[in-house]
Amino acid sequence: MARNWIPVRGAQGVHSRQAHADMPEGTYEREVSKEGFFGPAAFFHHPRPPTGWTKFEGPLRPRAFDLNALNEATPSPWDAPKVLTNNHVEMRFWKLARPMPALARNADGDQLLFVHEGAGDLFCDYGRIACVAGDYLYLPRGTMWRLAPDGPAALLAIEATGAHYMLPERGLLGPTGVFDPAMLDTPVMDEAFRAHQAQAGEVRVEVKKRGAVSTVTYAYNPLDAVGWHGDLAPVRLNVKDIRPVSSHRYHLPPSVHATFVSDRFVVCTFAPRPFETDPGALKVPFFHNNDDFDEALFYHAGDFFSRDDIKPGMMTFHPSGFTHGPHPKALKAMLVQPKPATDEYAVMLDARDPLDVAAAAAAVENTRYVDSWKGR
Ligand SMILES: [Fe+2]
Repeated sequence: MARNWIPVRGAQGVHSRQAHADMPEGTYEREVSKEGFFGPAAFFHHPRPPTGWTKFEGPLRPRAFDLNALNEATPSPWDAPKVLTNNHVEMRFWKLARPMPALARNADGDQLLFVHEGAGDLFCDYGRIACVAGDYLYLPRGTMWRLAPDGPAALLAIEATGAHYMLPERGLLGPTGVFDPAMLDTPVMDEAFRAHQAQAGEVRVEVKKRGAVSTVTYAYNPLDAVGWHGDLAPVRLNVKDIRPVSSHRYHLPPSVHATFVSDRFVVCTFAPRPFETDPGALKVPFFHNNDDFDEALFYHAGDFFSRDDIKPGMMTFHPSGFTHGPHPKALKAMLVQPKPATDEYAVMLDARDPLDVAAAAAAVENTRYVDSWKGR
């Protein structure tokens, strides 16, 4: 049924007409919106940044986790510590020190791996695909796979529980905007794959189903297909192949950076882009309550322009229920940016349902993060 939002078109007091631009002098804009940045929204103009809390008490708060400190490498992805979970998505941070001894198969949902550090080969039913840092690897549910890194690797693993990954609808941008689907690489059945296939000995397949792992053992390597055809396969996409949408006159919402979508969450990628140059346009993320989504941001590489004291391998988590926005230092560049462009790569998970913080993440939490908006 078509949505019929309660019709309102109001304005009170001092305000701009265009969101994120030409804000009344000395004010900070705050957006309150439904359905991410696509539903009805209100824009407030405040004399003070709306993150000016002196105390934040109770279970709800902005949180930051140093995933680098989760330093136990595990040979199986199913032993990697969970970070954030709900019934529709499961995120783990996985350190892998050497090639996986067994094959993995996720029977619970499509799997997305993001290579944060390291490089190597992924062997799967479909062939071999090489991977480097910055690669997303999409593995359809049920694929058997084995990652063989050249050295220590660190990955963010995001499972679409009971659901699929798809590409976002690009609408007016056209189907080849942001990245051309032709940039998606698929595995090949090459010499290295055939050599892997021919390795003698028992091979175990660790199948995860309903969160529990079962092991199926073969006397041979079951990645033994001699060919395949069809329109389903793992794909690889590197963050450097993403050509972000930007506007020199308008700070676009994070949703334009959507890379993969599932039923109840979105994975977005922040990649370097020029700052807005219009004098009246906002040059930092706007303060907002994204009241329908819980937001997590994993920092992969670069200089994170809207946050202080954030290093690669960290994750911030902003559950819905309060306003968030740039840190005080970043806010000084609200209307004039010293640099021409951002220099950051980050992976965002926007979940439609509340996310639970897993124990491993809570153990590496920076509990001072909630105070990081205090003026300095
Ligand atoms: Fe946000």
